Amino acid sequence: MTEERPAYPSLENRTARHRTLQAIGRDGTTTKPASGDCSDRKWPTYWITAASLLEWSDPYERIVDKENEPFYRWFVGGSLNAAENCIDRHLEERKNQVALRWEGKRGERRTYTYYDLYREVSAVAAALRELGVEEDDVVTIYLPKLPELPITMLACARIGALHNVVFAGFSPNALAERMQRLDSHTLVTCDGSSREETVINQKRKADTALASIEESLPTIVVDRLGSSHDMHLGGNQYDYDNLVEAFVGANVPPVPRKATDPLFHIHTSGTTGDPQRMTHATGGYLTGVAWTAQTVFDLMPGTTIWCTAGAGWITGHSYVVYGPLLLGATVVLAEGSLRYPDRYRPWEVIERNGVEVFYTTPGVIRTFMKWGESFPSSHDLSSLRLLGTVGEPISPDTWEWYYTHVGDERCPIVDTWWQTETGRVLISDRPGIDELKPGLVGRPLPGIEIQIVDEDGHELPPGESGYLTIDRPWPSMLAPLEGDRYWVLAEYWQAFSDPRADTWQYFTGDRAVIDDDGYVTILGRDDDVITIGNHRLGTAQLEAAITTVDSVTEAAAVAERTAGETALCVFATLEQGQQDRTAIRNAVADAVAEHVGEFARPTSVVFTPELPETYSGKTMYRLLECIVNDRPPTDSDTLRNPEIVGELTTIWNQE
Ligand code: WT7
Repeated sequence: MTEERPAYPSLENRTARHRTLQAIGRDGTTTKPASGDCSDRKWPTYWITAASLLEWSDPYERIVDKENEPFYRWFVGGSLNAAENCIDRHLEERKNQVALRWEGKRGERRTYTYYDLYREVSAVAAALRELGVEEDDVVTIYLPKLPELPITMLACARIGALHNVVFAGFSPNALAERMQRLDSHTLVTCDGSSREETVINQKRKADTALASIEESLPTIVVDRLGSSHDMHLGGNQYDYDNLVEAFVGANVPPVPRKATDPLFHIHTSGTTGDPQRMTHATGGYLTGVAWTAQTVFDLMPGTTIWCTAGAGWITGHSYVVYGPLLLGATVVLAEGSLRYPDRYRPWEVIERNGVEVFYTTPGVIRTFMKWGESFPSSHDLSSLRLLGTVGEPISPDTWEWYYTHVGDERCPIVDTWWQTETGRVLISDRPGIDELKPGLVGRPLPGIEIQIVDEDGHELPPGESGYLTIDRPWPSMLAPLEGDRYWVLAEYWQAFSDPRADTWQYFTGDRAVIDDDGYVTILGRDDDVITIGNHRLGTAQLEAAITTVDSVTEAAAVAERTAGETALCVFATLEQGQQDRTAIRNAVADAVAEHVGEFARPTSVVFTPELPETYSGKTMYRLLECIVNDRPPTDSDTLRNPEIVGELTTIWNQE
């Protein structure tokens, strides 16, 4: 496809950027020595250029320290503050430039300049202190896409507290679990939010979670719904606006944090079942995020970026909050659904705000495709100059649609591969520099070394698919707390490692293939994780919820993809003699909603006498996925019970 059409466009005026990239990039100095060999002296020095995008309170003494292998520590000896880097240092030059444009679901609009952010972040920081939050304490944030979400994150960062953002759609149980696991000191939430015509009582969900923790944690409540919703504050609960009013004008000097100190926690599904906490360290994370915000998203001071991810996900942390603000850009935050009040909303948001960089997921683009090109074509999208996608593989036809109907065949598309654990984009084309190939995520960014390996960890040649590994540490890599190191090691480093070998090989859990030009195609996850609405959920976590229903003995959760949307489909086996299938079906759906969240409620629950299993007793998810997605089942040779495949296909088709 690429050979037949003229080259995809480049960005112009990139000379300065080219120079930075060359300092870091594929200029010969970074050629990889032996696989995973981190002893190459030149190897870490190019990260100096990236770190110089930040303002350091104390300069670092060493770029990297490998004492705790494989957990490299970055910019040792240096200190800095994230909020100071995102806000204070811009004040001299762009105090009155817009930092954040928010659009509410009910058509409201709010704009914050960098100076506005400075004042409100300082007030919230002072309020958190007043509530007893100290450096290194954890503050859980359970808010939908409101300006108060990034503001509270930055307020935590200002005083050296660690934020733990929990997706607002999660259930009280899921919230309580995520608070307890981190011994959260304080909670920040809101009264509620409207979803299309109904109201979701967010505070009631928060109160339920708080009650189950049995401690009266200080709680700050944002009044989102105003007089349309009665907000009752209990003991130790405070109204956000009152606090801001009480503390506005407070001078809260940013607390310098060691580069190796944690900046925040965030939960990932992991593959072992329960969601796992992941931690990022201040200096490395901010360096990686600032550098990719510049290199991949081409952000400059004043660039307007709209990333549709919620701040509860790493994408929101890195490219809604930290990356853009570190570079002095303007962030657009749109509350609510992209289809409400109607399907014109995404294009209105772009037109109204003059969005230049738009970043979303293939799932969202598929939905746009389904709605049709008349929606984007009815708006002036000429402000756009760069498009991005993340979260799952994008098919070439979806890519072409995005390129043609949103990007008007002028805007490069960056297909960015990364993970919660990597903190920032690791594999992507660089706009204006690399040739774009639809459906391929491109080559690893400068300084990143990857390999595709087989079951034994041996490198595979181009064209052969295998496991994607990262073969060198990078700033912004996961920085687990000491207590998490064992499981993190087991999950990411020991897939094939010989502990005696001097190799460093991070296992991503993805399967991929590289072509002759070094471009990577991601084939999907190898582990038992499914993505719903771009939320990575462990099947084990979902199945644990499903099997809380008494009569269900075993369950498997898989993703069903219908035009543009992913739905959760459950296969379950029942105790003998269970007749009332409708009741069980409802109970299963309710259990998922209760333990995980409404957004994950399954659309179909199918009963089966057995689940397809390997000889080692592992459920064959890929086979179930074939069945629900009407693809011919593959992989059945390694099954213990191959006869179940035909039976399941029949059951599914009758549903
Ligand atoms: C997993 C990470 C980090 C952003 C959002 C998700 C998949 C991510 C791509 C892409 C194909 C992708 C991988 C990865 N993924 N980006 N461009 N093409 N697949 O974060 O929840 O940590 O999920 O998302 O499977 O391992 P996450």
